Amino acid sequence: MVRTSTMVLNGNLTVQMNQTIRQNGKQRKNGHVNGEKQTNFPTAKGMSCRQYSPESEQAPEQAPMYVAVLTYLGFGIVTLFGYFRDFLRAVGLEKCHLAQEREEQKEFVPMYQDFENFYTRNLYMRVRDNWNRPICSLPGPAFDLMERVSDDYNWTFRLTGKTIENVINMGSYNYLGFAENNEDFLKTVADKTLQYGVGVCSSRQEVGNLSSHEELERLVADFLGVESAMTFGMGFATNSMNIPALVSKGCLILSDELNHTSLILGARLSGASIRVFKHNNMHSLEKMLREAVCSGQPRTHRPWKKILIMVEGIYSMEGSVARLPEIVALKKKYKAYLYLDEAHSIGAVGPTGRGVTELFRLNPADVDVMMGTFTKSFGAAGGYIAGNKVNQPVRSSAVS
Ligand SMILES: Cc1ncc(COP(=O)(O)O)c(C=O)c1O
Repeated sequence: MVRTSTMVLNGNLTVQMNQTIRQNGKQRKNGHVNGEKQTNFPTAKGMSCRQYSPESEQAPEQAPMYVAVLTYLGFGIVTLFGYFRDFLRAVGLEKCHLAQEREEQKEFVPMYQDFENFYTRNLYMRVRDNWNRPICSLPGPAFDLMERVSDDYNWTFRLTGKTIENVINMGSYNYLGFAENNEDFLKTVADKTLQYGVGVCSSRQEVGNLSSHEELERLVADFLGVESAMTFGMGFATNSMNIPALVSKGCLILSDELNHTSLILGARLSGASIRVFKHNNMHSLEKMLREAVCSGQPRTHRPWKKILIMVEGIYSMEGSVARLPEIVALKKKYKAYLYLDEAHSIGAVGPTGRGVTELFRLNPADVDVMMGTFTKSFGAAGGYIAGNKVNQPVRSSAVS
C-alpha cells in the first residue's frame, strides 16, 4: 500500500511524501523495514528554501462546495437526532449513561451541564472509537493497536487482548524519527535517567535546577543562533505560562486567527488586549498595526506599552507556513515585537532544521521571542522560549 501525500502549502511550497508503508511485501514499523533500520524517512525536512515562494498565498485549501454542504448537512442531522435522543432520555425512554449530579451534591454548583455536554454525548460518542486508541508499539509511521470493543454503543470499551498490527499512524508527529526504536537514543535516555532520576520534585527557581537543564538551554540557544533559551517541561505550558511574563495590561497582542490554543490561553491570561487578524493575511495585520499605532489604547488613546504579534511557524492543522519575511518587515515598520511558535517548524524545515527563520534565510535576531516544543521533531517532551532579550523577564517570572 502506498500513501502519497502532497502537501500543497500555498500552491508553491509542495512537499511530496511518498510513504511506502507496505511495499513489495516489506513492512515498515518503528523505523524498521523488515527488521532493518531505515534512515531516509520522508519528513517535512523535504521543504527547502528553493521550493518556497513568499509571494504565494499562505492560505489553506478551501473545501469544495459540495463537501462543505454535505458536512454541514451531516452535522445538522446528527444534531437534530441528538435533541431527539435527549428528549427520550429526559422522559426515561432511553437509558442515560452520563455522569450525573449526585443526590447529596444537588445544592452545589452543577458539575455537569446538560447543554455543555451535548456535543460529547450525541455527536462524539457515535464516533468515539476512532480516537484515543491505546497503542502497544512505538509510534512510528505504522504501529500496533490494542483491539477493543464496546458493548454499549461506545460509552465504555473493553480490551479483547488481541493486537491489530501495522496500522498507519496518523495521530502523532515524529518528523525526524527520534521517537523510534534506536538503541543509541535509548541508551542515552537510560544512562541519564540512572544518573539524574525521573524528576527533581522542585521548581527550577528553588532546588530543581540541574546542570543538564543548563546544558540543554545552551544547546537550544546555540542551535537557534540566539543569546539564551529557557526550557520547560511542557510545550503547552511554555506558551500559556510565559506569555503573561512578556505582556500585561496596557499591551496589545495581535494574534493570527488560527493560532494554537496554548497561545490563546497565554494571551488571555496575560491581561493584555487581544485583536485577531485573518490567517496569514498581511493586509489584515498591517491594518491592525496601523490602527493600534495611530489610535493607541481605547478611551485614553495612550500608546500601547507593547504591541506583540503572535504567529506560528507552520500551522499545525492547515500546514500553512507563516509569511515571516513580511511579518518581520511589518514588525520593524511599526516597532512591534514578534512571538513565533515553532512547535511544528523547528527541526522540520530549513536546510539544517532550524525552522522558518532558516527557511526564509532571516536573521534569528529579527524574531524577538522564539518558542518551540520538543514533542514533535525531537520526539521528547517540553518546550523552550529563546531570544536575545527574553531571558530576564521569562526566567524571573516563570512558574513552571
Ligand atoms: C503550535 C503549537 N504550540 C504549542 C503546542 C503545545 O505543545 P505540547 O504538545 O508539547 O504541549 C502545540 C501542540 O501541538 C502546537 O501545535
